[in-house]
Amino acid sequence: MTEPLETLITTDPALAGNILANAGIVIFPTETVFGIGASAYNEEACRKIYTIKNRPKDNPFILHISNLDRIKELAILKPEHQELISVFSPGPITYILPKKDEKLFSSGLPTIGLRIPSNPLAQKMLEHSNLPIAAPSANLSGKPSITRWEDAREVFKGKVNAILIGEQSEIGMESTVINLSTSPPVLLRPGGISFEELKFYLPDLKLGAEINTELILSPGLKYKHYSPECVVIAVPKLPQIEELNAGQIGFELNVKMGLNLKINNNQEYMKNLYSFFIDCEKKGLEKIYCELPKNDNLKETIMNRLEKASEV
Ligand code: TXA
Ligand code: MG
Repeated sequence: MTEPLETLITTDPALAGNILANAGIVIFPTETVFGIGASAYNEEACRKIYTIKNRPKDNPFILHISNLDRIKELAILKPEHQELISVFSPGPITYILPKKDEKLFSSGLPTIGLRIPSNPLAQKMLEHSNLPIAAPSANLSGKPSITRWEDAREVFKGKVNAILIGEQSEIGMESTVINLSTSPPVLLRPGGISFEELKFYLPDLKLGAEINTELILSPGLKYKHYSPECVVIAVPKLPQIEELNAGQIGFELNVKMGLNLKINNNQEYMKNLYSFFIDCEKKGLEKIYCELPKNDNLKETIMNRLEKASEV
């Protein structure tokens, strides 16, 4: 057992950046979900994150940077991908690229994932640290990602050096991950930016499932993900019979259950699904009914998380 740490809880992104620059581990808000970060040049600090999260050691971290110029310093970028990157970043998207700077922590891989978050607090923190920050989502491995700082405090107080307070994550699900190091490029994880939007700038983009080669699969894809303790059940229509040991989230609620969340569109669905999972878990509910998402360009992302959360 390691000694509990003093966890500083702060609203100051400059202070959070300084803690990262001094080998600390910091939980911080982003527009997708909260991250748990350390300097990507500090292997020891990065390895601690695996232990804190109980994360499989072969699952690499995304490196977070504050601006586009940094991408070219850290990775090899093809000229034909520059426009795509300037259109979608800063934002909820991660690019897998060949690593240029050998000193970066990449779990032994020749590639790195790079993301420029748009959240202003994350931006300020990254600028102040003046470092690429390696950060997986701030949740215990296999559990739903965290979108509210209070949930991060509950799980990680005493285990990290600081938590940067921010608003609930605006998007609420993890970034889209695309592998630009392969030919053709491959969408590894659907997220806040849809396949259709990307196709316009990247016509040869393929879905991971279409390719099916071990080599280009993301290490993270083989692990169980996003599951609360409760059984998650995706349904075309929410139940008509009351069950007090169940929660329900959807567009049309028919009866009252133990916890109820009505959403109006897929955007609200994305923003609130993980926090709803956590609320149901805290209430000790046994099941969560989730109505299938609406048929728009966010459907794939929500379905992906619902499928993973309902796997047993
Ligand atoms: O929105 C997000 O992406 C959040 C916030 C904090 O930025 N981060 C996040 O990190 O979701 P994580 O570690 O939970 O998911 C990162 C995914 C994993 O599936 C991992 O395998 C994949 O990205 N990944 C990272 N580096 C990779 C690489 N070099 N090659 C292939 N996949 C990689
Ligand atoms: Mg994660």
